[in-house]
Amino acid sequence: MDQSTLPDHHNQGEDLEKLEIHLLLEGIYLNYGYDYRDYAYPSIRRRVWHRIHAEKLTTISSLLDKVLHDSSYFERLIADFSINVTEMFRDPLFFKAFKENVVPLLKTYPSIRIWHAGCSTGEEVYSMAILLHEVGLYEKTKIYATDINTDVLKTAKNGCFSLEHMKKYTNNYIQAGGEQAFSDYYKVTDAGVKFHSYLTENVVFAQHNLVTDSSFNEFHVILCRNVLIYFNKDLQNKVHQLFYNSLGKFGVLCLGNKESINYTAFNESYEDISSSQKIYKKIK
Ligand SMILES: C[S@@+](CC[C@H](N)C(=O)[O-])C[C@H]1O[C@@H](n2cnc3c(N)ncnc32)[C@H](O)[C@@H]1O
Repeated sequence: MDQSTLPDHHNQGEDLEKLEIHLLLEGIYLNYGYDYRDYAYPSIRRRVWHRIHAEKLTTISSLLDKVLHDSSYFERLIADFSINVTEMFRDPLFFKAFKENVVPLLKTYPSIRIWHAGCSTGEEVYSMAILLHEVGLYEKTKIYATDINTDVLKTAKNGCFSLEHMKKYTNNYIQAGGEQAFSDYYKVTDAGVKFHSYLTENVVFAQHNLVTDSSFNEFHVILCRNVLIYFNKDLQNKVHQLFYNSLGKFGVLCLGNKESINYTAFNESYEDISSSQKIYKKIK
């Protein structure tokens, strides 16, 4: 027999693992309608093994079996898939650049629509509301804040955050060019800090899945920071198509600091407003 036709045992293990993960994601999609098939493989793989160990299982196929027959396994697995790390005024220089370069453009509009796609527990949304409040634009703005995960949206709506983060968030706020005392925006309660409700008066929180749901409005600004990093190239392009369709003329797209419009299918459709802070303007 020709040795070159024999499977390589090392690769066979990897190939089998890939096949089992493929079957798991396919099973989730067919049974529950959640599509993780084009999420970045290394991160999905890490999370699948984390769940297998947490459930005291040993194989991916045994996890698939549990996930298909008991939806509580499915809930716990997709909670692992969703990375919700966020903070207020995350990457403060982004907010500074937004204030300097995007706010003047927004001032020329009679009303403003902003979409935070993948808003997690809402810290980014509260930060934007504070910024817009300080430049006198909040009144005429409607913010749509969406995420795939309904648990994080509950926290976002509540506006209660842990007191221990406030020192860091205050520093971020100052670096972002904040003009008041950060503590003016919240009150300390037994449960932590509660941000004032006027900050969410013009915010709609809603579930939206970037992979399977379509465009629902036309926006002046879309922020999708630290979400696309978890998707593979095909899925990134698909979501960029959704953003392109959802932005009006000269609409502004904001990505996370490890993300970029370069090397996507939409590179030519935008120009840089701030290349270092990943802020782009739709030009065609
Ligand atoms: C790391 S957080 C980013 C939060 C915030 N934008 C920031 O930069 O701090 C990523 C969020 O994307 C959400 N997400 C993941 N896949 C999604 C999808 N298909 N549709 C909508 N949101 C998704 C996760 O649930 C999570 O809350």
